[in-house]
Amino acid sequence: MALYLVTGVAGFIGSALAGALVRQGHEVVGLDNLRTGFREKVPGGVVFVEGDCADERVYADALPQKAYDAIFHIAGQSSGEISFDDPVYDLRTNTESTLHLLRFGLAHGCSRLIYASTMSVYGSQPDAPVAEDARAVPESFYGTGKLASENYLRLYEARGMRSTSLRLFNVYGPGQNMGNLRQGMVSIFMAMMVKDKHIHIKGHPNRYRDFVYIDDVVRAFLLCLSREQSCGRILNIGGSGKIQVGDMVERLRTLSKDPVTVEYSGSTPGDLFGIHADGAMAAKHLGYEAEISLDEGLERMYAWYLEQTDAGGA
Ligand SMILES: NC(=O)c1ccc[n+]([C@@H]2O[C@H](COP(=O)([O-])OP(=O)(O)OC[C@H]3O[C@@H](n4cnc5c(N)ncnc54)[C@H](O)[C@@H]3O)[C@@H](O)[C@H]2O)c1
Repeated sequence: MALYLVTGVAGFIGSALAGALVRQGHEVVGLDNLRTGFREKVPGGVVFVEGDCADERVYADALPQKAYDAIFHIAGQSSGEISFDDPVYDLRTNTESTLHLLRFGLAHGCSRLIYASTMSVYGSQPDAPVAEDARAVPESFYGTGKLASENYLRLYEARGMRSTSLRLFNVYGPGQNMGNLRQGMVSIFMAMMVKDKHIHIKGHPNRYRDFVYIDDVVRAFLLCLSREQSCGRILNIGGSGKIQVGDMVERLRTLSKDPVTVEYSGSTPGDLFGIHADGAMAAKHLGYEAEISLDEGLERMYAWYLEQTDAGGA
């Protein structure tokens, strides 16, 4: 049994990862400020600490001062759009927090940190699978802060913190916040479809993304623990490969038994036209390949969401 610290434990990805660690029999301390997360999402068995990763007092007073076997730094504000509203908040919550965690970990004998980075670090790229050695020129404050965090991790390698940054592409699946209309793509369109029978899409239908199902993402994080050669690396975590937004929406529509109308208008600041992952490095160093197809993932998520809405939730 090992001891892990998971930040963002009340959010979509952090709660799924913490749940998987608990099921494997590990001890998990979870940190979250509940800004976009929910206390009830924290899996049973997790020692929950409410606090902000960017707040130094959390490290002195609130977190158990233990030698964690690894830290999973998942907490963060995850919306490019929101990063334009408040860049300083984005910097504190997504970048300062990384530095605090690195220092806290090392001070308590932890030498492994796995980080939830993002495809947004790349900025606009040619229409080809993007590999990790592509020049990263982020176009949002969000991507800029995440890239800075990756660089802090690199600097701390020399100080003894072995780290892996997983550049997650578009993550979706059960457990996603269906009420947040500023983060996510599948979640936003699925919520519109179920609630309004109308999907309003900001941007062109030919834009494209690489959609990765939550279980695949959790598996990628867990693989980092057993694959020593993932240390010191930045790895893409994609799923579906290149899928046009219009195509994804059509697949969604086939799930609904009611007719659904679709409208394209407007745009989102800093939104990339298209990006999809080259998965060769993740396959080589992590043994990671996505297992859940987009159609299967959408179906599973839709079934989960209907269950929530029937029960009056989500
Ligand atoms: N969902 C995606 O498609 C996606 C893609 C790429 C990267 N990521 C990254 O994965 C991470 C998790 O994303 P998510 O989709 O689960 O989002 P989420 O909003 O569901 O979860 C984030 C969690 O972190 C918490 N949090 C935020 N700032 C915090 C802080 N300063 N201190 C403590 N807790 C804080 C929130 O309350 C929330 O519970 C984020 O860092 C995000 O940037 C997500």
